[in-house]
Amino acid sequence: MPLEPARLTLAADGTPFSPGYGDVYHSAAGAHAQANHVFLAGNCLPDRWAHRAQFVIVETGFGLGLNFLATWLAWRDDPLRCQVLHFVSLEKHPLAAADLARTHAAWPELALLADELCRHWPALEEGAHELEFDAGRVRLTLHLGDAVTTLPTLDSRADAFYLDGFSPAKNPELWSPALCQSLARLAQPGATLATWSVAGSVRRALAAAGFAVAKRPGFAGKRQMLVGRFGAADLAEQR
Ligand SMILES: C[S@@+](CC[C@H](N)C(=O)[O-])C[C@H]1O[C@@H](n2cnc3c(N)ncnc32)[C@H](O)[C@@H]1O
Repeated sequence: MPLEPARLTLAADGTPFSPGYGDVYHSAAGAHAQANHVFLAGNCLPDRWAHRAQFVIVETGFGLGLNFLATWLAWRDDPLRCQVLHFVSLEKHPLAAADLARTHAAWPELALLADELCRHWPALEEGAHELEFDAGRVRLTLHLGDAVTTLPTLDSRADAFYLDGFSPAKNPELWSPALCQSLARLAQPGATLATWSVAGSVRRALAAAGFAVAKRPGFAGKRQMLVGRFGAADLAEQR
Protein backbone atom coordinates (compact mmCIF):
# COMPACT_ATOMS: atom_id res chain seq x y z
CA MET A 1 0.00 0.00 0.00
CA PRO A 2 1.52 3.42 -0.92
CA LEU A 3 2.21 5.65 2.07
CA GLU A 4 1.64 9.34 2.51
CA PRO A 5 5.13 10.90 2.13
CA ALA A 6 6.38 13.44 4.64
CA ARG A 7 5.50 17.07 4.01
CA LEU A 8 8.74 18.90 4.56
CA THR A 9 9.23 22.62 5.05
CA LEU A 10 11.94 24.68 6.72
CA ALA A 11 11.64 26.47 10.06
CA ALA A 12 12.66 30.16 10.18
CA ASP A 13 16.27 29.18 10.98
CA GLY A 14 16.40 26.70 8.06
CA THR A 15 15.94 23.52 10.14
CA PRO A 16 13.79 20.84 8.39
CA PHE A 17 10.30 21.05 9.88
CA SER A 18 7.21 18.84 9.70
CA PRO A 19 4.01 20.89 9.43
CA GLY A 20 2.02 17.72 10.11
CA TYR A 21 3.63 17.18 13.53
CA GLY A 22 4.57 20.82 14.22
CA ASP A 23 8.14 19.88 15.12
CA VAL A 24 11.67 20.02 13.70
CA TYR A 25 13.57 16.95 12.48
CA HIS A 26 16.73 17.75 14.43
CA SER A 27 18.35 20.33 16.69
CA ALA A 28 18.99 23.70 15.08
CA ALA A 29 22.38 23.64 16.82
CA GLY A 30 23.82 20.97 14.51
CA ALA A 31 22.27 17.83 13.11
CA HIS A 32 25.31 15.60 12.68
CA ALA A 33 26.83 16.69 16.00
CA GLN A 34 23.50 15.96 17.71
CA ALA A 35 23.39 12.46 16.21
CA ASN A 36 26.92 11.79 17.46
CA HIS A 37 26.31 13.22 20.93
CA VAL A 38 22.87 11.86 21.68
CA PHE A 39 22.54 8.62 19.75
CA LEU A 40 26.07 7.30 19.23
CA ALA A 41 27.75 8.46 22.45
CA GLY A 42 24.49 7.91 24.37
CA ASN A 43 24.71 4.23 23.40
CA CYS A 44 28.49 4.08 24.05
CA LEU A 45 29.19 3.68 20.35
CA PRO A 46 31.49 2.92 18.66
CA ASP A 47 32.98 1.11 21.71
CA ARG A 48 30.10 -1.32 22.18
CA TRP A 49 30.26 -2.79 18.68
CA ALA A 50 34.05 -3.38 18.76
CA HIS A 51 35.01 -6.87 17.54
CA ARG A 52 31.37 -8.04 17.43
CA ALA A 53 30.18 -10.29 14.60
CA GLN A 54 26.96 -8.29 14.37
CA PHE A 55 25.49 -5.26 16.10
CA VAL A 56 21.81 -4.38 15.76
CA ILE A 57 20.38 -0.88 16.23
CA VAL A 58 16.62 -0.27 16.27
CA GLU A 59 15.41 3.28 15.62
CA THR A 60 11.96 4.81 15.96
CA GLY A 61 11.62 7.43 13.19
CA PHE A 62 14.00 7.22 10.19
CA GLY A 63 13.18 10.78 9.11
CA LEU A 64 16.02 12.26 7.08
CA GLY A 65 18.22 9.21 7.68
CA LEU A 66 20.73 11.39 9.47
CA ASN A 67 21.25 9.05 12.43
CA PHE A 68 21.74 6.17 10.01
CA LEU A 69 24.30 8.10 7.96
CA ALA A 70 26.17 9.32 11.07
CA THR A 71 26.27 5.75 12.42
CA TRP A 72 27.43 4.32 9.11
CA LEU A 73 30.22 6.93 8.90
CA ALA A 74 31.33 6.19 12.48
CA TRP A 75 31.35 2.47 11.63
CA ARG A 76 33.46 3.09 8.52
CA ASP A 77 35.94 5.18 10.49
CA ASP A 78 36.33 2.62 13.28
CA PRO A 79 39.12 0.06 12.82
CA LEU A 80 37.49 -2.15 15.50
CA ARG A 81 34.05 -2.07 13.85
CA CYS A 82 31.71 -5.05 14.04
CA GLN A 83 31.59 -7.38 11.04
CA VAL A 84 27.99 -6.48 10.25
CA LEU A 85 26.08 -3.39 11.30
CA HIS A 86 22.33 -3.95 11.06
CA PHE A 87 20.27 -0.77 11.34
CA VAL A 88 16.54 -1.37 11.68
CA SER A 89 14.39 1.74 11.42
CA LEU A 90 10.67 2.45 11.35
CA GLU A 91 9.04 5.31 9.50
CA LYS A 92 5.39 6.17 8.93
CA HIS A 93 5.89 9.15 6.60
CA PRO A 94 9.05 8.59 4.55
CA LEU A 95 10.54 11.43 2.56
CA ALA A 96 10.27 11.48 -1.20
CA ALA A 97 13.72 10.76 -2.72
CA ALA A 98 14.12 14.34 -3.98
CA ASP A 99 13.41 15.78 -0.50
CA LEU A 100 15.87 13.35 1.02
CA ALA A 101 18.63 14.42 -1.39
CA ARG A 102 17.80 18.08 -0.83
CA THR A 103 18.14 17.86 2.96
CA HIS A 104 21.31 15.76 2.74
CA ALA A 105 23.02 18.57 0.84
CA ALA A 106 23.45 20.34 4.21
CA TRP A 107 26.00 17.70 5.34
CA PRO A 108 28.89 17.57 2.87
CA GLU A 109 30.86 15.25 5.17
CA LEU A 110 28.11 12.64 4.65
CA ALA A 111 27.72 13.23 0.91
CA LEU A 112 29.18 9.93 -0.31
CA LEU A 113 27.02 7.84 1.99
CA ALA A 114 23.96 10.02 1.44
CA ASP A 115 24.28 9.51 -2.33
CA GLU A 116 24.41 5.76 -1.80
CA LEU A 117 21.32 5.89 0.39
CA CYS A 118 19.41 7.96 -2.15
CA ARG A 119 20.41 5.59 -4.96
CA HIS A 120 18.93 2.66 -3.01
CA TRP A 121 15.87 4.56 -1.67
CA PRO A 122 12.83 2.28 -2.10
CA ALA A 123 9.38 3.03 -3.46
CA LEU A 124 7.29 4.41 -0.62
CA GLU A 125 5.26 1.22 -0.15
CA GLU A 126 4.24 -0.10 3.26
CA GLY A 127 6.35 -3.01 4.51
CA ALA A 128 9.98 -4.02 5.06
CA HIS A 129 12.63 -2.83 2.61
CA GLU A 130 16.10 -4.40 2.84
CA LEU A 131 19.00 -2.24 1.69
CA GLU A 132 22.64 -3.30 1.69
CA PHE A 133 25.81 -1.22 1.59
CA ASP A 134 29.55 -1.84 1.87
CA ALA A 135 29.31 -5.32 0.36
CA GLY A 136 26.54 -6.34 2.73
CA ARG A 137 28.42 -5.35 5.90
CA VAL A 138 25.97 -2.49 6.51
CA ARG A 139 22.34 -3.55 6.37
CA LEU A 140 19.42 -1.16 6.60
CA THR A 141 16.00 -2.66 7.20
CA LEU A 142 13.49 0.09 6.66
CA HIS A 143 10.03 -0.71 7.94
CA LEU A 144 7.70 1.74 6.23
CA GLY A 145 4.43 2.04 8.11
CA ASP A 146 3.27 2.77 11.62
CA ALA A 147 5.80 1.75 14.26
CA VAL A 148 2.95 1.19 16.72
CA THR A 149 1.62 -1.75 14.73
CA THR A 150 4.92 -2.85 13.16
CA LEU A 151 7.15 -3.11 16.25
CA PRO A 152 5.13 -5.94 17.86
CA THR A 153 5.59 -8.01 14.67
CA LEU A 154 9.42 -7.71 14.47
CA ASP A 155 11.82 -10.45 15.44
CA SER A 156 15.00 -8.34 15.58
CA ARG A 157 17.26 -8.64 18.64
CA ALA A 158 18.38 -5.13 19.44
CA ASP A 159 21.72 -4.19 20.99
CA ALA A 160 20.87 -0.48 20.99
CA PHE A 161 17.86 1.77 20.49
CA TYR A 162 17.69 5.25 19.04
CA LEU A 163 14.42 6.80 20.25
CA ASP A 164 13.86 9.67 17.85
CA GLY A 165 10.18 10.37 17.29
CA PHE A 166 9.02 13.95 17.28
CA SER A 167 8.58 15.34 20.79
CA PRO A 168 6.39 13.27 23.13
CA ALA A 169 3.97 16.21 23.40
CA LYS A 170 3.45 16.26 19.61
CA ASN A 171 3.96 12.58 18.75
CA PRO A 172 2.85 10.65 21.91
CA GLU A 173 2.24 7.35 20.10
CA LEU A 174 6.01 6.85 19.60
CA TRP A 175 6.68 7.12 23.35
CA SER A 176 3.72 5.31 24.89
CA PRO A 177 3.98 2.60 27.57
CA ALA A 178 2.82 0.04 24.99
CA LEU A 179 5.50 1.11 22.52
CA CYS A 180 8.18 0.89 25.23
CA GLN A 181 6.99 -2.66 26.01
CA SER A 182 7.40 -3.47 22.30
CA LEU A 183 10.98 -2.18 22.43
CA ALA A 184 11.69 -4.26 25.54
CA ARG A 185 10.49 -7.39 23.73
CA LEU A 186 13.23 -6.83 21.14
CA ALA A 187 16.00 -5.98 23.62
CA GLN A 188 19.01 -8.21 24.12
CA PRO A 189 20.08 -8.39 27.78
CA GLY A 190 22.07 -5.21 28.43
CA ALA A 191 20.73 -3.43 25.34
CA THR A 192 21.16 0.33 25.63
CA LEU A 193 18.99 3.24 24.56
CA ALA A 194 19.44 6.94 24.05
CA THR A 195 17.14 9.85 23.35
CA TRP A 196 17.17 13.61 23.72
CA SER A 197 13.82 13.54 25.59
CA VAL A 198 13.81 13.44 29.39
CA ALA A 199 10.03 13.77 29.72
CA GLY A 200 8.75 12.15 32.91
CA SER A 201 6.16 10.11 30.98
CA VAL A 202 8.92 8.66 28.78
CA ARG A 203 11.16 7.82 31.74
CA ARG A 204 8.28 6.10 33.53
CA ALA A 205 7.21 4.12 30.44
CA LEU A 206 10.78 2.92 29.80
CA ALA A 207 11.31 2.01 33.47
CA ALA A 208 8.04 0.07 33.54
CA ALA A 209 9.22 -1.85 30.46
CA GLY A 210 12.45 -2.92 32.19
CA PHE A 211 14.99 -0.24 31.22
CA ALA A 212 17.06 1.45 33.91
CA VAL A 213 17.29 5.08 32.77
CA ALA A 214 19.43 8.06 33.77
CA LYS A 215 19.91 11.63 32.61
CA ARG A 216 23.12 12.77 30.97
CA PRO A 217 24.25 16.21 29.76
CA GLY A 218 22.28 17.07 26.63
CA PHE A 219 23.41 18.42 23.28
CA ALA A 220 24.08 22.13 22.76
CA GLY A 221 21.26 24.17 24.34
CA LYS A 222 19.60 21.15 25.99
CA ARG A 223 20.53 20.63 29.61
CA GLN A 224 19.78 16.91 29.66
CA MET A 225 19.23 13.79 27.56
CA LEU A 226 18.32 10.23 28.53
CA VAL A 227 20.23 6.96 28.38
CA GLY A 228 19.10 3.52 29.46
CA ARG A 229 20.07 -0.11 29.78
CA PHE A 230 17.71 -3.07 29.57
CA GLY A 231 17.64 -5.31 32.62
CA ALA A 232 20.07 -3.20 34.65
CA ALA A 233 19.22 -2.50 38.28
CA ASP A 234 20.38 1.09 38.20
CA LEU A 235 22.38 3.62 36.19
CA ALA A 236 24.42 6.26 37.97
CA GLU A 237 23.32 9.82 37.27
CA GLN A 238 26.04 12.00 35.72
CA ARG A 239 26.04 15.77 35.81
C1 LIG B 1 12.64 13.61 14.63
S1 LIG B 1 12.16 12.75 13.19
C2 LIG B 1 13.41 11.48 13.07
C3 LIG B 1 14.75 11.97 12.60
C4 LIG B 1 15.65 10.82 12.16
N1 LIG B 1 15.93 9.86 13.18
C5 LIG B 1 16.91 11.26 11.46
O1 LIG B 1 18.00 10.80 11.85
O2 LIG B 1 16.82 12.03 10.51
C6 LIG B 1 10.78 11.78 13.75
C7 LIG B 1 10.26 10.81 12.71
O3 LIG B 1 9.30 9.94 13.32
C8 LIG B 1 8.35 9.59 12.34
N2 LIG B 1 7.14 9.06 12.98
C9 LIG B 1 6.22 9.73 13.73
N3 LIG B 1 5.26 8.89 14.17
C10 LIG B 1 5.58 7.65 13.70
C11 LIG B 1 4.97 6.36 13.82
N4 LIG B 1 3.85 6.16 14.50
N5 LIG B 1 5.59 5.33 13.21
C12 LIG B 1 6.75 5.49 12.52
N6 LIG B 1 7.35 6.69 12.36
C13 LIG B 1 6.78 7.76 12.94
C14 LIG B 1 8.12 10.92 11.63
O4 LIG B 1 7.51 10.76 10.37
C15 LIG B 1 9.55 11.47 11.54
O5 LIG B 1 10.17 11.13 10.35
